[in-house]
Formats: sequence, C-alpha cells, structure tokens
Amino acid sequence: MKEHQVPILTPTARSINAASQAIIKGGLVAFPTETVYGLGADATNDKAVAGIFEIKNRPKFNPLIIHVKNLELAREIVIFNDLANQLAKIFWPGALTLILPRRNERISLLASAGLKTLAVRAPNHNVAQALLNKSNLPLAAPSANQSGRISPTMAKHVASSLFDTKKNGTEVILDGGPCQIGIESTVIDLSENKPTLLRPGGISVEEIEAVIGPLTISEGIKKGNPKSPGMLDRHYAPNLPLRLNAKKPNLNEAFLAFGPCSLMESINLSPTGNLKEAAANLFSMISDLDRSPFTGIAIMPIPNYGLGLAINDRLKRASKPID
Ligand code: TXA
Ligand code: MG
Repeated sequence: MKEHQVPILTPTARSINAASQAIIKGGLVAFPTETVYGLGADATNDKAVAGIFEIKNRPKFNPLIIHVKNLELAREIVIFNDLANQLAKIFWPGALTLILPRRNERISLLASAGLKTLAVRAPNHNVAQALLNKSNLPLAAPSANQSGRISPTMAKHVASSLFDTKKNGTEVILDGGPCQIGIESTVIDLSENKPTLLRPGGISVEEIEAVIGPLTISEGIKKGNPKSPGMLDRHYAPNLPLRLNAKKPNLNEAFLAFGPCSLMESINLSPTGNLKEAAANLFSMISDLDRSPFTGIAIMPIPNYGLGLAINDRLKRASKPID
C-alpha cells in the first residue's frame, strides 16, 4: 500500500490559515519553533491531544508543553508567581518552559497527564506565533518525532521520523527551514518552593541563575537522565483507590467501562472500544468519579496495544498507593 505523504508547505498566509483551520477542527500540525519542530494540537481538545500520543507512539502519557502567544495568555491558564514573572519578562518569547499550577480545567487534563501543573512557553518563531494567532488557541506540542527518536530541527526530519507510516493523522508540516537553536527548551519547575531545573535546554542555567539566583538540579539530571526529568515517577493518582481489570463494580464503587457494557450506572471511556477516544476521556472521567459517595473506582480491562499501552501504564501507576 502506498504510504501517506503529509504535505510539507512553505508558510504563507494561505498555508498558515489552512493549518489553523486544521487545528481548530481537532487535527494535528507540525510547525517550526526556534528550538525544534513541534507537533501541535488544540490544547483544550482531549481528542486532539490523544492524537498526539497516538502518532508519537508514546508508551506513556508524558505531560506536554502548552504553547501560548504571550505572557498575558499564559496567565489565563497557569498561576504565575514572582519568579515566573521575572523569567518570562526576560526570556519570553523564547526557549524557556515554566512549570506552574494550572488555573482550571480548560486545558486538556490529558495534556498534563493529569498533573495539577502545566508546562507553558511562548515560542520565539514567527511561524509558531502566526499559528497561535490565527488559531487563537493554546497549542499542546511535544517535539515532532516518534517516541525515542531525536527531536527534528528540519521539516524533512519530521516527515521521516513521524509520517512515513500508513497511520497518519497529521494534516500538514509547515516548513520554516532549520531551527535556530536546535535543542529543546529549558524546563524549570516553579510550582514548588525551590525553582528546579528539570531539563537543560536552549537557555543556559547561568543565564537563568543571573536572574533568579541558584537553581536546584533535579534528581533525574543528576543521575544523567535529563530527558526524563524525574517525571516518570511522578504521577497523578485519584483520592479513591482504583481497581483494574474489573468485570463489575462492588458495592459503592464507581464503574468506568470500556467497550460494550450493559451496566446502567457506568460511565464509558469508549462505548465502541476506540482507544483514542478512551485516552481522550481517561483523566477527565477518573477525576469526575473521584468523589463521594463512591469508595473506589473499578475499571474494566483495557487492551494492551496502541494507546492502550499508555492508558494501562497510567492506570497501573495511579492504582498504586502514593508514597
Ligand atoms: O523546545 C521544546 O520544548 C519543544 C518545542 C516543540 O517547543 N517541545 C518539547 O516538548 O520538547 P516535549 O513534550 O518533547 O517535552 C516536554 C518536557 C518533558 O520533559 C516533560 O516531562 C516536561 O516537559 N513537562 C511537561 N509538563 C510538565 C509538568 N506539568 N511537570 C513537569 N514536567 C513537565
Ligand atoms: Mg521530545
């Protein structure tokens, strides 16, 4: 069968308009930033965000960076503190991602893998800015590569890393030429007491420390594993216990179904058994059920392929008691 080729387009008013329309409709668009190419989707649309994980073939739901036009829009989705204000004023737009408490649930819970914080940055690239302006949406965008491959710094890398497959949900790749910085943004966690470096990147530690003083270096980086900045162990777990692979609910348990199910009171991740739909609903449905009068949440088995791998990974970790 012929492979599906995603069009690589020169950014013009017309192609950016088409890309924005695709985003608004829930599609995915690969676009250049000053660091690396991102694979973007409407950050407020769970299903579009699920599409990112599907295409990247991520076996886990790692939280994604939310790209915004500017500081003002970032303030609508996360709660800024003094340090965040200082850093954003100096380094935005630019290669600095800030982790801050999320303000509300407008941004997909899946985009932050259920965490109560969000990663935000304003990219310093005219094509990325044009897309943000035209779509008028915050964009969830990880690097536009297949999970485990290096981040793309040219449109052709995107095409070969992600899209040489039959399975394709990407509408278009906007070609902005080579990325100027070529490595990902620096990620700083400002959501807790001490500002902590989670990922070294385009803006140096020295530059940041010159503004806000010493940074704590995350354990992940100290262990020589900067690409998984301690995130793998951190997880959102509901207050109620989760029971996996359940066939039916016990007394007082909420029931989260998957696929055809005849139980009246159940909420269903995907009545048709569609894993992308299930991923899109996962965090919001669990958070809806995480309340009295329930004493626990029972979840039907989820098949372990495609996005089911990431769903099961998350469920397994969320079902363990928090240390
Ligand atoms: O330069 C970049 O940052 C590129 C371009 C496209 O903007 N994006 C990028 O995204 O590298 P991604 O998804 O590949 O990396 C996001 C990083 C991951 O290390 C993730 O663990 C961390 O940010 N992250 C996202 N949300 C987080 C959160 N709420 N708490 C802690 N870390 C978070
Ligand atoms: Mg990446």
